Amino acid sequence: MKIIIGSDHAGYPMKEKVKAYLQERAVQVEDVGTYSDESVDYTDFGKKVAQKVSDGTVDRGILICGTGLGMSMVANRFRGVRAALANDLFSAIMSRRHNDSNILAMGGRLIGDTLALELVDTWLETPFEGGRHQRRIENI
Ligand code: RB5
Repeated sequence: MKIIIGSDHAGYPMKEKVKAYLQERAVQVEDVGTYSDESVDYTDFGKKVAQKVSDGTVDRGILICGTGLGMSMVANRFRGVRAALANDLFSAIMSRRHNDSNILAMGGRLIGDTLALELVDTWLETPFEGGRHQRRIENI
């Protein structure tokens, strides 16, 4: 599985932690920035990630801003993207089981790094249930 990751300045420290965590587990990660805590617009990085998920260049994306809100709003403008704002485990699990989410958005100012890594693990491992949920996704 190839994963693309992006953040703004508010999500930068957490992005670095998540990237290192995935790389340690031999997951292929493309980091589109930002690369420092200098203030930037989350829209630029949300677009970069969502575009590559939308066109199928990568399988999944992870986006981190202060809350995860702006990033999920941007990403969900792209065809075929189902970005889940999940700062809790239940949302991360259900976004995979029922919504086949392909982007995980998290809030670097809302949750700690330990929870973020747990969310990433859980989100990557939880399968889509298909069935009636497939029809609903097609309706989107
Ligand atoms: C940046 O200050 C903040 O607005 C951004 O990281 C994000 O939380 C927006 O939704």
